[in-house]
Amino acid sequence: MANPILETKEVSAWFGKHQAVRGISFSAEPNTINAMIGPSGCGKSTFLRCLNRLHEEVEGARVEGSVLLSKEDIYGQGVDPVAVRRRIGMVFQKPNPFPSMSVFDNVAAGLRLAGIHKRSVLAEVVERSLVQAALWEEVKDKLKQPGTSLSGGQQQRLCIARALAVNPPVLLMDEPTSALDPISTAKIEELLVNLKNDVTIVIVTHNMQQAARISDQTCFFLTGELVEAGETSRIFTNPQDTRTEQYITGRFG
Ligand SMILES: Nc1ncnc2c1ncn2[C@@H]1O[C@H](COP(=O)(O)OP(=O)(O)O)[C@@H](O)[C@H]1O
Ligand SMILES: [Mg+2]
Repeated sequence: MANPILETKEVSAWFGKHQAVRGISFSAEPNTINAMIGPSGCGKSTFLRCLNRLHEEVEGARVEGSVLLSKEDIYGQGVDPVAVRRRIGMVFQKPNPFPSMSVFDNVAAGLRLAGIHKRSVLAEVVERSLVQAALWEEVKDKLKQPGTSLSGGQQQRLCIARALAVNPPVLLMDEPTSALDPISTAKIEELLVNLKNDVTIVIVTHNMQQAARISDQTCFFLTGELVEAGETSRIFTNPQDTRTEQYITGRFG
């Protein structure tokens, strides 16, 4: 790959003695959607959490290998994991707006943490982020309402807006639509396809149709290993590994 924005080299991860991720080398080109598929328990979430140094927050957890963001190792000496997480944002399966905060404050939270308090700047970034997350029209008159008063799909777009507010070059998403209804899911899929103009997306999904619909690259995981990665259309029409073929044709999973 000519100029990957995100690249891993031989990343392995453990929970205590249990190895969940086995020597994964992966790279993502800028402005692409990269889907991680594979059966439950195969290490997709763990690998994703290695990409922004969340894995190490678990007691007894350990990571080996390197993760390069624009050629810089996020596990390098002296790198602040909190700064890493600002550049590599994350959206989780269950929408998790900050419960006691308004819609506005949810989106502004990361900026305030970064020391930005000027009202006009916050207002501008909040609007831009909500527009990017395809939520502005629905909430522009509800900015003072609690984030948790929105519908599930709106809450998830609020979480996307919150992540986008600090302008991350990379956004990680762990099954972001699996708690949502089909209409909310379709809205988020459409949003992600537009968003890749601004950010590179790595998305874990148990939904193969979703991977096929929206991703540029698909990576197939099995028991902690990356079995096969490639252009999405190729993975779904002409997989090289028989295990990939068996999975995408529904023979296990
Ligand atoms: N907090 C944890 N502590 C111990 N083991 C875990 C923890 N989270 C996940 N695992 C184990 O790590 C492996 C990979 O899990 P995970 O990354 O969540 O898989 P996936 O996201 O593909 O379903 C599984 O064997 C799972 O049981
Ligand atoms: Mg998972």
